[in-house]
Amino acid sequence: MRAVVYDRYGSPDVLRLEDVPTPVPARGEVLVEVVATSINLSDWEALHGSPGYARFGGLFTPRRHILGSDIAGRVAATGPEVTAFSVGDEVFGDNLQRLGGFAEYAVAPASALALKPSALTFAEASTIPQSGAIALQAVARGKAGERMLLNGAGGGAGAFAVQLATRAGLHVTGVDNAAKLDFLRALGADEVIDYRAQDFTRTGPYDLVVDLVASRSVFAYRRSLAPGGRFLMVGGTLRALLRLLTLGTLVGAVSRTRLGVMVVREGPAHFAPLAELVAAGEVRAHIDSVFPLEEVPAALVHHGEGRALGKVVVAVRES
Ligand SMILES: NC(=O)c1ccc[n+]([C@@H]2O[C@H](COP(=O)([O-])OP(=O)(O)OC[C@H]3O[C@@H](n4cnc5c(N)ncnc54)[C@H](OP(=O)(O)O)[C@@H]3O)[C@@H](O)[C@H]2O)c1
Repeated sequence: MRAVVYDRYGSPDVLRLEDVPTPVPARGEVLVEVVATSINLSDWEALHGSPGYARFGGLFTPRRHILGSDIAGRVAATGPEVTAFSVGDEVFGDNLQRLGGFAEYAVAPASALALKPSALTFAEASTIPQSGAIALQAVARGKAGERMLLNGAGGGAGAFAVQLATRAGLHVTGVDNAAKLDFLRALGADEVIDYRAQDFTRTGPYDLVVDLVASRSVFAYRRSLAPGGRFLMVGGTLRALLRLLTLGTLVGAVSRTRLGVMVVREGPAHFAPLAELVAAGEVRAHIDSVFPLEEVPAALVHHGEGRALGKVVVAVRES
């Protein structure tokens, strides 16, 4: 099969299209004929090996050689003990543990997959698993009427979270670069902030701050919160992560706020509810652009340069 592979950390230049053996599903696994896969910041991080936590399991060289965690496609074969799916089923899921979506076939644990709602295209379905699980879990931390700020709101997870948060009756402030602010308003954000022009830790206070790209100090985050407010890091630098896990707990305890890290639960139970909303037309899966498999490096560059509004999709084959 054709696959986009890499064997050292670096820029998209280290990726190459190759013919590699088609993987074989083991017990509990499914072989998926990939139709579409979407790009997540986690792909960019695993490509570069940065932040440091992206090297867990592969300190000097990558453990997995084919990136791509969000997949949508058809079941091509099932391994022993798989009862939930049959050959030909249309499925989608976040294959974050195994990766392999930038290829014609990928093996995934059956537990990571769900049947694709027929109202969704494969491209739409591929945008939902990872971003959707993050967005649903982040928004669930807020209550109607609260002021929620989303940092990194114009990307994959953020675009879903803005829509879900406004539907849930939160007052939403979206932070991203200037070129994404009209997009955030169109998604329903009540306020928008250009992160290059304004410091959101001085514009609040907010009841809930969710940071998809955290890099600030614990004290800056504390400043952004109202009494009783919560700060949650979803992604960002290793330094921000370590500070939050240590000093964050202490600062939260003495200032009657909570500062911590959101560990995103994976699996169909955590993304399928969003797929139903998208299928019903209540939430939009915003696809910025679609690239063919051989242009995965260009797709990653486009995503990494910060021009993408919502999700970038890789169409691996005709649906
Ligand atoms: N905690 C967990 O268990 C878990 C699990 C899976 C994924 N994650 C993390 O969740 C995050 C999901 O991100 P995603 O896929 O939605 O990313 P994305 O699509 O790349 O979106 C990130 C957005 O943040 C913007 N941005 C970059 N730097 C910024 C800054 N300093 N201030 C404000 N905005 C900034 C980007 O725009 P520009 O770059 O163009 O400016 C982009 O619009 C990732 O960090 C991933 O590692 C966490």
